[in-house]
Amino acid sequence: MKLQTFLAHAGIASRRKAEELIAQGLVQVNGKIATIGLRIDPTSDKITYKGRVIKSAQPHITYLIHKPVGIVSTTQDELGRQTVIDFLKKQLGPKVKLPRLYPVGRLDLDSNGLMILTNDGNLAQRMTHPSFEEEKTYRIRVEGEPSDKAIAHLERGVLLKEGMTSPAKIEVISLEGEESILEITIHEGRYHQVKRMMLRVGYPVIQLTRVRMGKYSLDDLKGKKYQLIEPK
Ligand code: URA
Repeated sequence: MKLQTFLAHAGIASRRKAEELIAQGLVQVNGKIATIGLRIDPTSDKITYKGRVIKSAQPHITYLIHKPVGIVSTTQDELGRQTVIDFLKKQLGPKVKLPRLYPVGRLDLDSNGLMILTNDGNLAQRMTHPSFEEEKTYRIRVEGEPSDKAIAHLERGVLLKEGMTSPAKIEVISLEGEESILEITIHEGRYHQVKRMMLRVGYPVIQLTRVRMGKYSLDDLKGKKYQLIEPK
């Protein structure tokens, strides 16, 4: 949206007056003095007026969804495949008007499970930035029967090409010779992290489902495809 519209919605001044404030150099976007008409993203840009951070007046909307396999976890796809946003819109039907929502983190095309869609930039940052150490748990079906040594290796941290992963927490659900089921909890979000960790210790992932992100769990959906969690 345009900067002056944002300032007006946030209650700083009328749109006209907001333009004057911008022209006077009193408004900064991401640390730089802004110009009239500048387009901003209220969920990610930092807007200040006279040095004070202006919060978006737009209410936060957050949905949990159960992403199925075969849907991309981005907002747009250059190959025209269905995205998580298309998926949610389809579930809600044409009558529900959604603001711009963003997926929090990624989930592979061939994986399923919990995703958060929100316009709350702080929530997205908290969930994905490694410094917050928000845990994500994945239930994985893997080839073979992971040895105690492999599990201890995952729990210590695994060397991937870009460096060591943080220690993972592992819960063994079932060991069945040809295929086994584990729950792995990590707080980083590197590209294909779980699959690469499991490959590194010799037990490739066959299927991956994200079951938890911080305090949110797939169980919160109670078997449904989506759940509005904010505003309640
Ligand atoms: N790790 C993976 O390998 N894939 C995902 O989709 C999420 C975590």
